[in-house]
Amino acid sequence: MSLAHAAYDATWGRMFAAMYDRGLKATEEGGLGEMRLQLLAGATGRVVELGAGTGVNLDLYPDAITELVLVEPDPHMAKRLRERVAASPRPATIVEAPGERLPLPDDSFDVAVATLVLCTVPDPAAALAELRRVLVPGGRLLLIEHVRAEEAGLARWQDRLEKPWRFFGDGCHCNRDTAATLAAAGFETGGLERGRLPKAPPLVRPLLRGSSALH
Ligand SMILES: C[S@@+](CC[C@H](N)C(=O)[O-])C[C@H]1O[C@@H](n2cnc3c(N)ncnc32)[C@H](O)[C@@H]1O
Repeated sequence: MSLAHAAYDATWGRMFAAMYDRGLKATEEGGLGEMRLQLLAGATGRVVELGAGTGVNLDLYPDAITELVLVEPDPHMAKRLRERVAASPRPATIVEAPGERLPLPDDSFDVAVATLVLCTVPDPAAALAELRRVLVPGGRLLLIEHVRAEEAGLARWQDRLEKPWRFFGDGCHCNRDTAATLAAAGFETGGLERGRLPKAPPLVRPLLRGSSALH
């Protein structure tokens, strides 16, 4: 890691984690919270969540889950996640590792969850390959992701502003074609719904959500 990257990580990374829940409050209250609840109602059995952040999803899981593993590589996020898990009645194991290299056995989860994370993971194809490996055959990925716009004009703005947005958004890429990456990784995309992230800047408004089964 370069000195500049280390300084960025130590300052903006820590501030981003500290401001995360407050920064997302209007979006959560504007509908994202309800979308999370609807999505996670479909979780059953053993669940692995990718890039769990501060743990916003933690208390939204239904009782139908039997095990919860929260993957979070960022130390500033992981600190807040540990605090949230300690204060929650929901038992969960935190794994501080990148999604691209999951220290988890093959075929060990029924459901994977990714909310607002495939935009930020440096190598989403590698992370999806890892989710595919740890999911049982017929396993499902539940996701809510902001994605590349289908509308050409907005997609052009997403391309133009990708770099400054990434700096501001702690590594978030606003222009990723996540549906294509999912399909290439062997996940069904036909049942996913397109929509809008409520009360969010236009660059990150186009949304993809739903349940995606492994081919
Ligand atoms: C925008 S936050 C989303 C947090 C949470 N999933 C949510 O729904 O609010 C993106 C998260 O992805 C995490 N992340 C970044 N790189 C990652 C990687 N390589 N593997 C897994 N998670 C990663 C970040 O640390 C951060 O917690």
